[in-house]
Amino acid sequence: MAANQRYVHIVGWGMEVPERRLTNADLERMVETSDEWITTRTGIKERRIAREGETTATLALGAARKALQKAGVSPADLDLIIVASATPEHAFPATACLVQDALGADRAGAFDLSAACSGFLYGLCLASQAIRTGAIETALVIGSETLSRIVDWKDRNTCVLFGDGAGAVVLTARPEPGGVLACTMRADGSGGPLLELPAGGSRYPTSLETLAHNMHTIKMKGREIFRFAVRVMADAARHVVEEAGLTMDEVALLIPHQANRRIIEAAANRLKLPMERVYLNLDRYGNTSSASIPIALTEAVEEGRLRPGDHVVMVAFGAGLTWAGVLVQWAELLPVAPPTPRRRLRERTQSLVARIRSSWRRTRRYVWGLVRRLRGEPPLS
Ligand code: ACO
Repeated sequence: MAANQRYVHIVGWGMEVPERRLTNADLERMVETSDEWITTRTGIKERRIAREGETTATLALGAARKALQKAGVSPADLDLIIVASATPEHAFPATACLVQDALGADRAGAFDLSAACSGFLYGLCLASQAIRTGAIETALVIGSETLSRIVDWKDRNTCVLFGDGAGAVVLTARPEPGGVLACTMRADGSGGPLLELPAGGSRYPTSLETLAHNMHTIKMKGREIFRFAVRVMADAARHVVEEAGLTMDEVALLIPHQANRRIIEAAANRLKLPMERVYLNLDRYGNTSSASIPIALTEAVEEGRLRPGDHVVMVAFGAGLTWAGVLVQWAELLPVAPPTPRRRLRERTQSLVARIRSSWRRTRRYVWGLVRRLRGEPPLS
C-alpha cells in the first residue's frame, strides 16, 4: 500500500461494563443528596460499579475481545496496544501489558497513557498517526476505568458523578478513503490542581499520613472545570472540523465526553449544533473518564446512529488539564459475518496457547530464580 493511499479506519468497537448498578436512589442513602439534584445538575440517573475481582484490566480485556471480534482481527495481528486510564491496574506494569499477555498479542508493543478523560482520544490520535506514517498497520486503543476505587464515597460533590467501564476500538490501515481525518491534543498544566488525586505518586508516596488525610481520592473544583470544559469542547470540535475542511453543518454526530449533560448542552449551544446530533448516554453510566467516548461510540454504532459516509466528531476534556478532538468519516468496511466454527476454534486455541505460554514463562522465571539462589549466585549475575 503506497504511503499516500493509507487511511486509518475504525474497524472494530466494543464495550464492557460491570453488571452492578448504583442508582441515584442508592446514593440518597449514602450521602446528603437527591435524585432531583443529581438529575437536574448532571443528567446522571445511574452508574456501573465494579465488583470485587473486576478491575481496569479485566474490563479492558472484555472490551478488547469484543472489538477484535467485530473487526475480525486476531490478537497476533496487533502491532500496538494503548490503554488510556486514570485508574490503571498498577503504577507498573502497564495495564496494556496485562491486556497484551491475556490476549496473546505476541507482536504488539503495549503502554498506558495518562491524560485522564481525554486519554482515549489522545490514544486514538497517536495510534492513527503511527498507522498513517506506515510505522505500524493495526492498533488496539482502549479506555478503561474503575473510578469507584478512587472516589471518596463520603463526598457528595464527586461521588455522584463517576462510574466504571471500558471501551475499545481496533484501528487499521485501509486504502478506502475516510476514517480518522483530523486530530487535536492540547493541555494546560496550570489547571492541574483543579482536578487531582494527590497521593500515591512520588510527590506524596502512600503513608499513614496521606491515608489519614484522605489524599487517595478525587479532589475537584467543579465550577472551574465546568467553565473550562464548555470552552475547550467547543474549541476542539471547531478545530478538527476546520482541519478536515468541513463545516459544523456537515457533522452528523457529536460524541462528547459524558461528564455532565449541562456541559454538553452548553458546548453544543456554542457550536450551534442541535441536541439531536449529540450522543448522550451519561444517564446510564455517569462519567467513566477515558472509557466514556469508546462506550458512547460503541452504543451509537449499535443503535444505528452512524451510517457510512457520516462525519462524527469526538471531543473530550479532563484532568491535566487536557482536551482533545478527533474527526472520523465513518465507514463500515467489513461485512461482519458471525465467526465460523473453524475461526472460533482457532481463536479459542490461540487464547489457550497464549495462556499456557504466559504461565510457562512465569514458571520458567520462577524456577531459574530458584536454581540461581540454590547455586548461591548473586541475583544480578
Ligand atoms: N447533592 C446535593 N447538593 C450538592 C451535591 C449533591 N450531590 N453536590 C454539590 N451540592 C451542593 C454544593 O454543596 C453547593 O451547595 P452550596 O451552594 O450550599 O455550597 C450546591 O450544591 C451547588 O454547587 P455548585 O458547585 O454550584 O453546583 P454546580 O451546578 O456547579 O454542579 C457539578 C456541580 C455537577 C460538580 C458541576 O460543577 C460539574 O459538573 N462540574 C464539572 C465536573 C466534571 O466534569 N468533572 C470531571 C472532569 S473529567 C476527568 O478528568 C475525571
